[in-house]
Amino acid sequence: MTLIALGVSSSISIYKSCEIIRRFQEKDFQVQVIMTKNASRLISPLLFSALSGREAIVDPFEGQQSERIAHVALAKEVALLLVAPATANVIGKFASGVADDFLSTFYTAVNCPVLIAPAMNEAMYLHRQTQQNIRRLKGLGVRFVEPERGYLACKDTGWGRLAPPERIVDEGLRLIKKSRSLKGKTVLVTAGPTREFLDPVRFLTNRSSGKMGYELAEEAIRRGADVILVSGPSPLFPPQEAKFSQVQTAEEMEKEVSKHFTKADIIIMAAAVSDFKFAEASSKKIKKEKLGEKISIVPTPDILLKLSRKKGSKVLVGFAAETENVAENAVKKLKAKNLDMIVANNVLDERVGFESDFNQVSIILPGGRAIRSEKMTKIEISQLILDKIEEIIGKKC
Ligand code: CTP
Repeated sequence: MTLIALGVSSSISIYKSCEIIRRFQEKDFQVQVIMTKNASRLISPLLFSALSGREAIVDPFEGQQSERIAHVALAKEVALLLVAPATANVIGKFASGVADDFLSTFYTAVNCPVLIAPAMNEAMYLHRQTQQNIRRLKGLGVRFVEPERGYLACKDTGWGRLAPPERIVDEGLRLIKKSRSLKGKTVLVTAGPTREFLDPVRFLTNRSSGKMGYELAEEAIRRGADVILVSGPSPLFPPQEAKFSQVQTAEEMEKEVSKHFTKADIIIMAAAVSDFKFAEASSKKIKKEKLGEKISIVPTPDILLKLSRKKGSKVLVGFAAETENVAENAVKKLKAKNLDMIVANNVLDERVGFESDFNQVSIILPGGRAIRSEKMTKIEISQLILDKIEEIIGKKC
């Protein structure tokens, strides 16, 4: 049976952890509860031990040396570390690498997906420090089930209410679900912006964060594919299982993509490649009085267009970041670049898109068939895109 570690910290919503355990058990998972010391003051560890059928861990650092080692070994056994509810304190410790109790030490020892469901008072949740910690952890690949707005234990109404157990468990299951639907396939994903340098200090770039491409890489790995991720500068950490290349410029991206093109079955160009570079780049910083009034720019290689000319039976997917006539422009790109699919979005929509965890896209297929998504997380969008790619592969076979 697959084992899940459930970290429980001291929020009033701690009682909801019981339902989380039950839901995992219904799906045939075993749950090992790890409580913080303060959590054990709110609910007796006995309750969690009885519910889970495994002795809840509270603070084995006070125990025997052999117990400690046995518990560290546990880190290798678990398929998921879920912390629900997670307090601002636990999130802060994880974000800064503080390992001063079992749960925070365990976090630094695991190599499995980590999912955090925060629960706290609204002021604490929205505090810049907490939000910075959350962003930092997201950058490290930690997943979050965002809390909801509602009536809080402090008798306020606001953000910070633990997400419903059902949503938390669904997200946990999704993270550990490994399908084999793309087993044997090599997926080449590009992500992030490129930087076109004028001199060692200045460059031309765009607002892409890389999130969409990194999520696609993660999802393709979960489906059993061999994944090559070629990324422009991004604050994100690439999935460990991906073969990863970091590039700066469009030309470097073209070179890396070409290197891997032959072995790729599916190519997803999620990168926001700069269309232009400076006609001349200097190896020394240019003094402003030497810059003159005009700087010439020249086109960069259109990587996707070039790939489309030697596409063969490969599946080629492009993205279209538009600010007007979204569908119309995307269809033009789909045809011009001979794509199997184009994913279009309106980057003027501030609720989604650049730098956001959310997106709302239209997936357009040759022949004009379009699927318009709801506003969804980029994780869900990546699932939708890969589902459609799998349909295309199915038809090609
Ligand atoms: N693309 C590329 N190489 C470039 C520019 C874009 O491979 N030099 C790819 C992108 O990764 C994306 C698709 O082409 O998958 C469309 O990118 P986009 O910038 O939206 O379109 P362009 O074709 O560059 O057209 P425009 O900028 O005029 O909208």
